[in-house]
Amino acid sequence: MVQPSVLIIEDDPSLRALEARLAGAAGFSVHTAEDGAQGIAAAVQLSPNLIVTDYHMPGMKAPEILATLRRLPGLDGVPVLVATAEPLELVGAELRRLGAHDIITKPFSPAAFKQQLRDCLGLDRPVAPPPAPVVAAPAPSPLLMVLAAAMELPGSSDSDAALRHVRRVGLVSAMIADKLFLDADLLAILTAYAPLHDVGKVSLPARLVRGGHRFSDGDRAEMESHTLLGAELLRRGGAPLLGQQIALHHHERWDGGGYPRGLQGEAIPLLARIVAAADVYDAMRSHRSYRPDLPPADVRRRVAGLRGNHLDPRIVDVLLAEGGLLDVIYVEHGDPSAELDLEVWR
Ligand SMILES: [Fe+2]
Repeated sequence: MVQPSVLIIEDDPSLRALEARLAGAAGFSVHTAEDGAQGIAAAVQLSPNLIVTDYHMPGMKAPEILATLRRLPGLDGVPVLVATAEPLELVGAELRRLGAHDIITKPFSPAAFKQQLRDCLGLDRPVAPPPAPVVAAPAPSPLLMVLAAAMELPGSSDSDAALRHVRRVGLVSAMIADKLFLDADLLAILTAYAPLHDVGKVSLPARLVRGGHRFSDGDRAEMESHTLLGAELLRRGGAPLLGQQIALHHHERWDGGGYPRGLQGEAIPLLARIVAAADVYDAMRSHRSYRPDLPPADVRRRVAGLRGNHLDPRIVDVLLAEGGLLDVIYVEHGDPSAELDLEVWR
């Protein structure tokens, strides 16, 4: 690249002039635009190597600019750096999902701005690093799903209800992850290991796992150990740490009252928080012999009641907002006449 070019889209004249001057000092040939529409037109005309855009502008904001660029042939791969004063936790995930290459938070120092422009194009990398290994966690095979289901109900010859349960937990977990904009590597691990969250039950006596009776304190401790046993099985099987953590921590509670470690809030690994929510949600949505089926309004009320005590509030918000998608999962994979009670332990 002889001299890289950058297009700066910024409605504030003084900031636009400052960014242009800094970009020039960083070694770029510089073009500017005053708003999103002008910026898109300039990008089509100039095909710059890099685009820097403000987040908030009259007319098009950064998300719309990104979405438009990604639809334009020849511009769909151009790196875009978004400058914003918004909190990253509010806008970061959406910007990344829309293809933002990087984000710089205002106010920024001149040195940081110049360096970030150069970093976007890798201009100061002495040697191109080898490609990062892809975390390839394959989705579980149908055979593995059947075995995972059999582990939920050892000793049962009819594990169809259990199979639907592990499928639903996987599907609901994936839906939550999608709405939280988890990156592809995390999603792959979640998809592969969410159905195996209870794999440790295979090491427990069938009389405990089948339930349907009162538990002594000893029984309770033994049942709770399915989290530790499952994580150890997955470790020995070569599962990635994040996959092991799903089995280990899926009975932790947001308020710290869960097991086996009593972790609290964001100290609980995110994938385990997602599977915990999917598992609890599935228990509420499913048929149980010891209570009438819950009407949808009751399920929503109960889910809302778990916000911030049992479950991660952000995840509860997703469950409450995505009722339609969940209905589709439960119509296609529900238990219309399940006689097996899978909610044997919480
Ligand atoms: Fe469990």
